[in-house]
Amino acid sequence: MSADHGVVAAKRTSANSLTRRSVVAGAGAAVLAGAMARPGGAQASPVKRRIPYGAALEYQHFISDADYKALFVNHCDMIFPMNSLKWSLLQRAPGEFDYLPAEGIVSFAETHGRGTYGHTFVWYTALPAWVEEIDTAARARQTLIDHVRSVAAHFAGRVPSWDVVNEVVAHDPVNEGPWRDSLWMRLLGPSHVDTAFAAAAEAAPEAELAINDYDLEFRGARYDARRRATLDLVRRLQDRNLRIDAIGVQGHLYPEIPIAHKEFGRFIKDLKALGVGYRITELDVIDWKLPINPSVRDEMAAEHVDNFLDAAFSADLPRSLSTWGLSDRYSWIADVMPHRRGAKNRPLPFDDRLKPKPMHDVIQRYLAV
Ligand code: G3I
Repeated sequence: MSADHGVVAAKRTSANSLTRRSVVAGAGAAVLAGAMARPGGAQASPVKRRIPYGAALEYQHFISDADYKALFVNHCDMIFPMNSLKWSLLQRAPGEFDYLPAEGIVSFAETHGRGTYGHTFVWYTALPAWVEEIDTAARARQTLIDHVRSVAAHFAGRVPSWDVVNEVVAHDPVNEGPWRDSLWMRLLGPSHVDTAFAAAAEAAPEAELAINDYDLEFRGARYDARRRATLDLVRRLQDRNLRIDAIGVQGHLYPEIPIAHKEFGRFIKDLKALGVGYRITELDVIDWKLPINPSVRDEMAAEHVDNFLDAAFSADLPRSLSTWGLSDRYSWIADVMPHRRGAKNRPLPFDDRLKPKPMHDVIQRYLAV
C-alpha cells in the first residue's frame, strides 16, 4: 500500500472511526498548546525562533564538562536526557527507580527556563536483565504498565512530551516485520504498543505522546515500507481510541543515501491528515564515508541537512527540532560508525572546540522567525 493509498484508506474509513480520529487530533493540539504554555516550556528561548531547538545531553558529560553544559544553555530551547530516562538506567531492579541522573538534567533545563523531552518508555533494547528474563505475557504487560505509570507520574507536569515507544517498526519491515522483534513483541505482540499508549495517556494526560523512529526520510523500498508501517501503527492506535499526538523523526542522516523529498513529504502530510504532528528528534550526520578534509566534510554535511530540512519543512513545520548531542566532542557515531579513514567524526552542529559549523547555520535558518 502506498502512502497515498494510506490517506485514501483513512478517508474511506467509517464515519465513526473518522470522528474518533478528529477528536484525537483536537486533543493533541490542545495538549501541545498546554505544554508550550507551561513555565519552563519551550518559549523561554535564548534567541527568538519560530520552532524550538533542542539537544540530547548525556549525564556523564553533564557532570564532567562545564563548557559543554554551558553550550546547551546558550543555544537550546529544550535540553533533555539522552540516556537517563531509558529503562536500563531508571529501573535497574524491580520497583527500584534511580531518578537522580534524569532529575539532574530535567531540573537543569527547568532552572534555566528551558523545555525538555522524555526519551523513552518502551524500547527493544536498553532493558535491565530482570526485564529480559520475564517469560509470561501477564507479567510483561503488568511490568510495562507499572514502568510507564511510575515514570510518567514522577515527571507529571514537567516533561511535556514522551517518546512512548521507540523503534517498534522492524529495520526491514518487508522481510522481518512489520514490527521489530523484542521481548515485548514475543510476549504481547503489537498490543504492547496499545498498552504503552493507554498507560501513558492515563498517567500523563497533559503530555504529548509520540512514536519515535529512524530511517523515515530516505529514498528506497525499505524506507517506503518503514513509512507505511509507521502510518499503519498510527491508524491502529486511533482505531482503538488511543491518543497519538506526534511522530518523532529521528533524522540520523547518511549523506550517501538520498532524501526521498516527495515520499517523505507525503508521509508528513499523511500524518497531518490523521491529526498527528511531527518532531525532528535526533538529527545528526553519519559522516563515515565523507572526505577527510574537515571543511569539505562540514559543507557536505550541512548540504545534506539542508536537503532533509527542505523536504520536511516544505511538507509541514515540525513541532521542534533536536540534535542527538550538540558538539562533535561526544557522539554515538564515533562508537558505532567511525570515519572509514580514521578521522574524528563531525556529525553535529558544533565542532569539538564548541565552535558553530555550517550545519548550525543551516539548522538555525530553518528555525528562524
Ligand atoms: O555511562 C557508562 C559509563 O559509565 C561506562 O564507562 C561506559 C562503558 O561502555 O558505558 C557508559 O554507558 C553507555 C552510554 O551510552 C553512555 O555513553 C552505554 O554503555 C551505551 O550503551 C549507551 O549507548 C547509548 C545507546 O543509545 C543505547 O542506550 C548511546 O549513548 C545513545 O546515543 C543511543 O541513542 C539512540 C537513541 O536512544 C535511539 N535512536 C538511536 C540512538 C543512537 O543509537
